[in-house]
Amino acid sequence: EDSRIHSIRTTIRVVPNFPKPGIMFQDITTLLLDPKAFKNTVDLFVERYKQKNISVVAGIEARGFIFGPPIALAIGAKFVPLRKPRKLPGEVISEEYVLEYGTDCLEMHIGAVEPGECALVVDDLIATGGTLCAAMNLLERVGAEVVECACIIEIPELKGRERLKGKPLFTLLESH
Ligand code: PRP
Ligand code: MG
Repeated sequence: EDSRIHSIRTTIRVVPNFPKPGIMFQDITTLLLDPKAFKNTVDLFVERYKQKNISVVAGIEARGFIFGPPIALAIGAKFVPLRKPRKLPGEVISEEYVLEYGTDCLEMHIGAVEPGECALVVDDLIATGGTLCAAMNLLERVGAEVVECACIIEIPELKGRERLKGKPLFTLLESH
């Protein structure tokens, strides 16, 4: 295994039964405490995307706001936050998505992304894929092309990758 991937895997803390019984929570705050592991995470994405003509990095609240901006700065792209409902002050478009219990929603400012832009979607983790699907729908609704979705962690058992309608997904590591 690449030593950089190893540094990332070993600094993520797994918290059993958080936030509810049966969930193995993947806590990236411990990765952030290790500057080398944090830098390795950003570098791996930057190396992959720097020559891909990406004009916008869209980060998903909340943890996509941590990893998206340093990637955007390094590849010379703008950063656009995709936020939970009623947080953005301007005119927005919204996409609802289904959770285990009930629904949630992501919103994006109208005008932040223009038709024809090439977008990278960034989040910390893909579980069922519902969150990334909603993010991609927002970008496609304004005429952007989603080049790829990038996450640190994938939970393969939850088959989120299959839900992305063939859109490319890049993840650094799997957790079971
Ligand atoms: C977690 C995680 C992803 C999402 C993945 O966020 O950070 O964004 O779940 O789940 P999915 O693939 O099944 O959609 P959460 O919704 O817990 O909110 P937060 O990031 O704001 O804490
Ligand atoms: Mg999240």
